[in-house]
Formats: sequence, C-alpha cells, structure tokens
Amino acid sequence: LESVKQKIDSKRQSALLGGGQNRIDAQHKKGKLTARERLDLLLDEGSFIEYDMFSEHGCTDFNMDQKKFTGDSVVTGQGRINGRIVFVFSQDFTVFGGSLSAVHARKIMDKAATVGAPVIGLNDSGGARIQEGVESLAGYADIFLRNVLTSGVIPQISVIMGPCAGGAVYSPALTDFIFMVKSTSHLFITGPDVVKSVTNEVVTQEELGGSKTHTALSGVAHNAFENDIDALARVRELVNYLPLSNKDAAPVIKSDDPADRIVPVLDSIVPAESNKPYNIVDIVEAIVDHGDFFEIMPDYAKNIVVGFARMRGKTVGIVGNQPLVASGCLDINSSVKGARFVRFCDCFNIPIITFVDVPGFLPGTAQEYGGIIRHGAKLLYAYAEATVPKITIITRKAYGGAYDVMSSKHLRGDTNYAWPTSEIAVMGAKGAVSIIFRGDSEQAEQEYIDKFSNPFPAAKLGFIDDIIEPRTTRTRICHDLDMLATKDLSNPRKKHGNIPL
Ligand code: COA
Repeated sequence: LESVKQKIDSKRQSALLGGGQNRIDAQHKKGKLTARERLDLLLDEGSFIEYDMFSEHGCTDFNMDQKKFTGDSVVTGQGRINGRIVFVFSQDFTVFGGSLSAVHARKIMDKAATVGAPVIGLNDSGGARIQEGVESLAGYADIFLRNVLTSGVIPQISVIMGPCAGGAVYSPALTDFIFMVKSTSHLFITGPDVVKSVTNEVVTQEELGGSKTHTALSGVAHNAFENDIDALARVRELVNYLPLSNKDAAPVIKSDDPADRIVPVLDSIVPAESNKPYNIVDIVEAIVDHGDFFEIMPDYAKNIVVGFARMRGKTVGIVGNQPLVASGCLDINSSVKGARFVRFCDCFNIPIITFVDVPGFLPGTAQEYGGIIRHGAKLLYAYAEATVPKITIITRKAYGGAYDVMSSKHLRGDTNYAWPTSEIAVMGAKGAVSIIFRGDSEQAEQEYIDKFSNPFPAAKLGFIDDIIEPRTTRTRICHDLDMLATKDLSNPRKKHGNIPL
C-alpha cells in the first residue's frame, strides 16, 4: 500500500508540473500564465476540484509511448465563482502545445450538462494532436456535439489565451461568449502560411486572427482584455450576471440602489434637435443599479449597444440603438449582434430592456447585396420569439420597419413607453414629404411633423402604454419587472424554428 501511495503522490506531483519547468518558463516568457495558474485566478480560492488528473494519452506511434504526461494536455474539473458552481477546462500549452488528444477530448464537458452548471473553457492549444491523426479529429467532433446539445441549456464561455486554429476554432464558435487576450491569442481557420500558399495574401498572425480583428472586424469575439489576469477577472464578473442553467433564475445580488430612484439627468440627455447625437450608454448607466453595465461586443457594430446590468439586484439584458454611430441605424452587423444577444437572454430567462432611437435600416447597395433583408430578419425573429419579460423605452426616433423590430408591442413587448421626445412614424418628415408631395413643401413638412413626429398617434392606438417623464424611467422599469416576474408565455410546440440564417 505504501508504494501505491507513493506512486499516487508522484503522479500528482508530475501532473502539477505539466510539461515541466522549462516549458512553464517559456510560457511565462510569452506573457502567458499556465493552465493551473489561470484556474487559480478564475475560481474562488481553494474551490477547484480536479477530475481525471491521472489520464494519459494512449498513442504508441512516433515513440509517443515514451512521452507521456500525467493528466495529458488539459486540466479539468469544477470550482466556484462567488460561491456558484462552474465546470472548467484549461488547456495546458506546456504539454504537446496543449494539442487535443483523444483523452484530452474525453476530459472536456462530460458532466456540466447533467448537473446544470456553466462551462468555461480556457483555450491555449496547437490544435489536433498530430501524432494521433483522425482519433484527435473525432475528439473535436465529440466536443462540438456537446457544445451544440448544451447550447441554451447551460451558459458556455470560451476564453482564447493562446493559439486556437483549424478545427479547434469551432468549439469556441459554438459557445455563447468568446473572449480574447490582447497580443497573445489568435483564432483562425488556417494560419498565415496556408493563406499565402492558397490565396497569395501576405498577412501576419495578428492581422489575420488577433483580438482586434475579431472584436472589431469579424464579430467572432465578444471582447478582448489586456492580459490573462484581466481577462479572468472579467469572466468572473460576467458569470455573476448569469444563471447556472436554463432551469435556474439569474442570480440576485443584494442592491441598495432604490427602485424608486428618480433620475433628473435623464430629462436633459436627449437633445431637442432631432438630428443631434447623444450617447445611449449615458441613459443606460443612469438607469441601472449603481451604473454598472457589462457591455458585450463594445467594439463591433457600435450602432447598437448590448450588455448585462441589474435592476434591484436582478440581471437584465440591455439592448439600445446608439445615436452616436451612424445615427443608430440598424444594419447587417448590428442586427446580427442584437439578435444573438436577445436569443441568449431568452434562452436563460433574462428579461430584456430595449432603448429605441432608430431612424430605420441603413440604405445602400452594400447593405442590400450583403443581405440586410435576411440579417435584419434575425433581430425581428429573435424579439418576436422571445418569451422573457420585454420592456421598451422609446427615447426619440422609432421609424419604419425598425420601429416594429425593436421590441414593439406588436412583437409581444410587455410594456412599451415613450419619452415626450419620441417620434414614431414611417419615416422622417423630409423623406416622407418628398414622397407624398413629390417635392419639398415647408408647409407639408410642418404638417407631417405636427401629425407624426410625436408619441401621440402611437399612444392613441395603444401601441405604447404611456408617455413618461424620463426621470421616472427607472421606477417604471423596476415596477414592471416585479409585475412581470410571474409572466408565463410560451410559443407553439415545434421541433425548432427556422430563423433566417
Ligand atoms: N500536435 C502535437 N504537438 C504539438 C502540436 C500539435 N498540433 N502543436 C504544437 N505541438 C508541440 C510542439 O511539438 C512543441 O513540443 P515540444 O515542447 O516537445 O518541443 C510544443 O507543442 C510547443 O510548440 P511550438 O511550435 O514550439 O510552440 P510555438 O509557440 O512556437 O508555436 C503553434 C505554437 C501552435 C503556432 C505551433 O506549434 C503550430 O503551428 N502547431 C501546429 C498547429 C496545427 O496546424 N495544428 C493542426 C491543425 S488542427
């Protein structure tokens, strides 16, 4: 028995050292933490319980039976974030470059779905374990399947903290949120060398798949952070907003921000001139608990703002048109960004608060050729199918089809309010007059403004529930969230809908 105990001890020690001190030093030299150091920062102190520490790969080709590392190239288990359970895997770049072997794949995500707790994956890997061939590819597919089957059941978060290339990208791509670390993380289907040989393009790793590319250009990643420490702290922050599963309510954090707080500053944020921009985030921060707003995709499609906040301690999803960028128009990217966020909230029972100031869809050939019709339909579809509580505040413009899309009553918005500055119409006065009068007549324009550039026509028809003083908005929302807590609405039975992709 003594010798078995010694063996257990020595195996544990070797697992803790991963690929050995030299490779750990090399990892640190690149500005990266090791797989275990990352878990220490991500999880509550001392809460990590490791599973499958004694796993080893079973490959015998290429002398691999001589090269085994206890635990292989990923550290897996469960732990706590603010006392709430999460499952984690952290790829260990010091063991075969974190590459994915069959046993590495088996260790990932095998328990989270049945327990009903989020999965957080820390990705740092050279891809498929080349020595294992197709076995490794099978491992990826097994993970993809788990990602898909648990989508909408438990929140899934990916943090890219090193290379993530080839087929490996599709596991993060299937998860709810992808975060990157600036400079040290890269995501691409094929690296710069393959790109050059196939398309003759010369591009650096950073240009092709760095954090800037994916947070500002491709929309693949939801945010990027300065370094490993910063990224893991922000993931903890996000998890605090999320329910553990679709059967769980979002966590309630004790809040001393009063529900009936009057916010006088809201009366003066929207400029009197209808074309003057203002920052919708100022409105959001003034309304939500303690001004805390966790923005998702802050650098992509900035004409729409999405993120999490709390009202009376309870998580809400915020969607707002951003008049600072392209006048808050809806376009392809902002529709897709908004739709995905709305669907996340709906999966996980998070009420949605929508702030509307939208002059319509962005016109032009680029948008039409790019498929704005089918992409815009995504946001419409997402709002229409969402059964969570939906509260809408029209701060200024709600024009055309975009009025319908942005959580209108017609798409089952529960309570919809207009501020006195609201203009709810088919389009702006100038455009409207040039069409119906075939010329611009000042008098006709004034007539149109008097008739439509105000909230009354919509209020008369019951399309908004009330015209409210901006300063009372927080009170109204808190009140309605309370009332809607028992909302019970479901969609017709179906296998699944067919959202326009
Ligand atoms: N399979 C097996 N071992 C791998 C591997 C893989 N896919 N990727 C990296 N490794 C090993 C390396 O052999 C090296 O082993 P060593 O420590 O025993 O020398 C170690 O991981 C570190 O790799 P290295 O290339 O020295 O690190 P790097 O930081 O210079 O480069 C990568 C990292 C990921 C860019 C580079 O390793 C790479 O291109 N790997 C292959 C990527 C790929 O094409 N994967 C298959 C597609 S899915």
